[in-house]
Amino acid sequence: MNAGEPLPKNIILIGFMGCGKSTIGRKLEHLLGYPLVDTDELIEQKTGLSVAEIFAKRGEEYFRNLEAAMLHELAAPNAPRRIISTGGGIITRKRNRSLLKHLGYVVWLQAPVDVILERTGRNRDRPLLHTENPREKIEALLTERKPMYAATSDIEVETIGLDAGEIACGILESARYHFASGA
Ligand code: S3P
Repeated sequence: MNAGEPLPKNIILIGFMGCGKSTIGRKLEHLLGYPLVDTDELIEQKTGLSVAEIFAKRGEEYFRNLEAAMLHELAAPNAPRRIISTGGGIITRKRNRSLLKHLGYVVWLQAPVDVILERTGRNRDRPLLHTENPREKIEALLTERKPMYAATSDIEVETIGLDAGEIACGILESARYHFASGA
C-alpha cells in the first residue's frame, strides 16, 4: 500500500497541549493529502477571537461549548475526509469522546511533562497554564485527563525521540492496518 492511498475515515489527533498535534498533523496532511483542520483555529476563525481572548472574555465553559459545536460540524454527514487536530481539553466532554471515536482513527499523542512545560512556556496562548505553577497544573490536568484520552484513542504514540515525519508514517501504517482489519 502506498502512503497516499485513501483511508475510509478521518485521522484525529488528540492529546495534551504541547504534544505535537499541529506539527504531526501537517506531516500527515502532506503524506496523505487530506486537508488538516484544527478545532482551535476553526473556533478562532468563526469568532474572530483568539482562544486566549475567548477564555478571558467569556470563560472556559463558553469555549467548551464552541468546541463541542465545532466538533459536531466536523461530523456532518458527507463531510470530506480530513486530518483533525483537536484542542487538548476536547475529551473532557463525554459527547465529544463519542463523536471523536465515530469520526475516525483516533491517535493520542504523548510527551513527558518537562517537554510539555518547555513547549507551552514559549508563548502565552494557553490560558489554562497562566498560573503561578504551570508544572503542577499540567500534572493535575494530565492525571484527570489520561483516562479520557485512553478511552477515546485507538492508539497511543510517544512522540519523544522520533521526528514528526517518522511518527506520521507510523500513524498512517497503523491506521491502514486498523481499517484493513475491519474496524
Ligand atoms: C486546551 C488546549 C488548547 C486550547 C485551549 C484549552 C486544553 O489547545 O484548546 O487553550 O484544555 O488543554 P492545544 O492542545 O492545541 O494547545
